[in-house]
Amino acid sequence: MIVLGSNSEVAQAFVEETLSAGDKFSKIYLFTSNKETTEKFAKHLEVKFVQQSEIVELDLLRPIDYAKLDGMESDLLFCATGYLGESTEEGLYEHRNTEKIIDVNYAKLIPVLTYFASKMERRRAGTMIVLSSVAGERGRQSNFIYGSAKAGLTAYLSGLRNYLFAKKVHVLTVKPGFMATKMTEGLPLNPKLTASPKRAAKYIYKAYKIKKNVVYVLPIWSLIMLIIRNIPEFVFKKLKL
Ligand SMILES: NC(=O)c1ccc[n+]([C@@H]2O[C@H](COP(=O)([O-])OP(=O)(O)OC[C@H]3O[C@@H](n4cnc5c(N)ncnc54)[C@H](OP(=O)(O)O)[C@@H]3O)[C@@H](O)[C@H]2O)c1
Repeated sequence: MIVLGSNSEVAQAFVEETLSAGDKFSKIYLFTSNKETTEKFAKHLEVKFVQQSEIVELDLLRPIDYAKLDGMESDLLFCATGYLGESTEEGLYEHRNTEKIIDVNYAKLIPVLTYFASKMERRRAGTMIVLSSVAGERGRQSNFIYGSAKAGLTAYLSGLRNYLFAKKVHVLTVKPGFMATKMTEGLPLNPKLTASPKRAAKYIYKAYKIKKNVVYVLPIWSLIMLIIRNIPEFVFKKLKL
């Protein structure tokens, strides 16, 4: 198994969910831009599940040495990589912030996903689970740069799923609404619309097992987004969303 964004609590909860369910992996590759914190999780997997893992450093904002990734094959890839960035007025007009949001959520992530997709395509087996966001369904004033990057990612995943279907590789697009993680720490989230990492992992795991193409977390978000997508633009532009 390959995990991108291993320090995400959702990624860690998903790994635990699969191992608790009895899924077997010869090795788990934990990709991370922060080796020290991932080491703790790797130790936890070893103690609780006797699961061998290998930490692989990968900062999307630095040049990537693909030769280093050559021997890493997997049946399952889980990508929780993402960066919300600053949506304040200062953040909005700070070009480094804009670049980082686009790079981490889309521009620098797509080549990595494509690299692993090509490996699965060659083996004609595997599943890719990638966390996008409901934010990609309609641009809103509160996070439209992040939302636009996630929109690009969602479109990419849809095309990739279509391309890989005949090659026996499955792609699951995850569209979370709110999840209580370090990304949203301090934000005033409605608890009824917010999933804990563990709950999110359970929904994602279930969707993976029944080969769903797209899953909302929580399911109520599919209804919320159906409404949001259908609000006429002349009304939508006046809303504070
Ligand atoms: N939380 C929410 O409400 C919410 C809602 C909608 C969608 N999502 C999406 O769900 C996914 C998981 O989010 P989360 O809430 O668990 O957020 P998170 O805790 O911030 O996790 C995102 C992970 O992305 C990785 N990452 C960030 N910058 C990176 C870089 N420069 N290079 C490589 N990896 C980098 C980090 O993993 P390492 O530290 O291991 O490198 C980080 O832990 C993300 O794609 C996010 O956009 C979250």
